[in-house]
Amino acid sequence: MAIIETKKLTKKFGTLTAVESLNLKIEKGEIFGLIGPNGSGKTTTIKMLCGLLLPTSGTAYVLGRKVPDKSITQSLGYMPQEMALYEGLTVHQNIEFINLEKWRDSL
Ligand SMILES: Nc1ncnc2c1ncn2[C@@H]1O[C@H](COP(=O)(O)OP(=O)(O)O)[C@@H](O)[C@H]1O
Ligand SMILES: [Mg+2]
Repeated sequence: MAIIETKKLTKKFGTLTAVESLNLKIEKGEIFGLIGPNGSGKTTTIKMLCGLLLPTSGTAYVLGRKVPDKSITQSLGYMPQEMALYEGLTVHQNIEFINLEKWRDSL
């Protein structure tokens, strides 16, 4: 089973296509770098995999479960570029505070 698999994954913001028909298959143990220029759709792809954004079309599976699926967040770590860490909190406290469920509708 692939850890991450996308099939024709697409996200549109109005007339802008941020991610177009992305096909990915990432196996267990593989280190995968998603590399591309600014605006090429990396963050949008990651947000869809985390369940923070809904795909416009296509499908994505994380750990064999079709996104969005709340149960995936139990096995997933995501450090958003745009979100600051609180230095007064421990790593664990930061992780607890930045609970993916809370951000789901705001990102
Ligand atoms: N919430 C949004 N609303 C409208 N356009 C967006 C939104 N998020 C991203 N975009 C646009 O989608 C495209 C891809 O953005 P993004 O996924 O952030 O790229 P990257 O992370 O590769 O820099 C860009 O043109 C960006 O302006
Ligand atoms: Mg980005």
